[in-house]
Amino acid sequence: MDRLTWVVLFAPFMTKLWVTAKGIYVDNGNPFDKGTLEVLNFTISQHEAPLLTKVYYPQKIDTYAVLFFTGGLLGWIPAESYDDVLIRVASHGFVAIGVNYLPYHIPTPPPDVRHRPHGEGVQSHESKKYLEELQWLTKHLEGRIAQQTNRTTLPRLVPAFDHLAVSCHSAGCDPFADIILQNHTLAKAALLLEPFSFNFKTPLTFNMPALILGTEFSTEHPRCIWPNEGYDHFYDLWKCPKIVMNVKGHGHCEMLDAWMYSVCAKLQFCKANADADLNKYHSFVQGISAAFLTTTLQGRDKLQYITNTTALPVELLEFKKDLDC
Ligand SMILES: *[C@@H]1O[C@H](CO)[C@@H](O)[C@H](O)[C@H]1NC(C)=O
Ligand SMILES: *[C@@H]1O[C@H](CO)[C@@H](O)[C@H](O)[C@H]1NC(C)=O
Ligand SMILES: *[C@@H]1O[C@H](CO)[C@@H](O)[C@H](O)[C@H]1NC(C)=O
Ligand SMILES: *[C@@H]1O[C@H](CO)[C@@H](O)[C@H](O)[C@H]1NC(C)=O
Repeated sequence: MDRLTWVVLFAPFMTKLWVTAKGIYVDNGNPFDKGTLEVLNFTISQHEAPLLTKVYYPQKIDTYAVLFFTGGLLGWIPAESYDDVLIRVASHGFVAIGVNYLPYHIPTPPPDVRHRPHGEGVQSHESKKYLEELQWLTKHLEGRIAQQTNRTTLPRLVPAFDHLAVSCHSAGCDPFADIILQNHTLAKAALLLEPFSFNFKTPLTFNMPALILGTEFSTEHPRCIWPNEGYDHFYDLWKCPKIVMNVKGHGHCEMLDAWMYSVCAKLQFCKANADADLNKYHSFVQGISAAFLTTTLQGRDKLQYITNTTALPVELLEFKKDLDC
């Protein structure tokens, strides 16, 4: 579809977002550049909130759209391991929340994502916990940020949960597919980074914009994504608007911070590009993520930064989009 057709078809959707995005901070820069906002962080313990939570928020007091993120292995890979990507996104005007799913105590072995009992998909224990966590944050995060910054007077920084995107890496997308299927209006968008799910089998019957990222090496030996349950599978089950891309020459470890990446690549936990320029790769992830989230949550159309694939700082093996809703 050419751009004009896209604008015409997508316009009602955009217009709606534009109106409802009023009052939300809007990023005016190039999504591939470092954001202009200074980003702070703090941790909320599992005694206080339902799940261990890391919050990245701009220092500047304003009203921000929110990203609710969980890491790989059903949320077992700590959100801290994605610091770099989450901070980069937050610097474009988002409160980015990284949630850790740690229901067991170490040294309980991590879950086998392949063999989660069948039928545990929708309304599983994990999904319920994530929903509880989201409800807790919706109620308490604004106050918790105020407390963190010793802000006793107005104005306060507002995380606008009515402008929420869910985001996940790898099998963190398994419970997140559940919660999206359970509640169609929970989020305004889904940012699915190398998603994997053994349980996700029900096609969406509603429209929620999705940006779906895949990588070449993630499905190659030693693979961390089974091809039929990875990014293409998510793309097939999703309804429009949706975009999927497969990045050449990169793998599953590269989404992580430098230290975790080096462990992941050295132990060959997943096939990785051992010589990856992480700074360049993370700025690519930041660019497509910020462009997508600015469009869907902040109400400013920056999709050309994603759809003009020749301008991307990586090479793609595949690019598909269905924006014809
Ligand atoms: C998180 O905040 C602390 C200060 O509260 C700072 O020392 C640390 O560097 C921050 N972490 C990251 C990853 O920016
Ligand atoms: C908030 O107040 C506490 C206690 O007075 C202090 O230790 C902390 O540094 C303050 N934090 C900020 C961000 O000013
Ligand atoms: C779905 O999520 C929205 C936004 O959080 C909430 O207002 C609504 O009550 C939820 N619906 C159900 C059926 O849980
Ligand atoms: C896409 O990006 C290329 C390379 O940066 C640029 O030359 C071209 O004008 C862009 N096309 C559109 C339609 O924006």
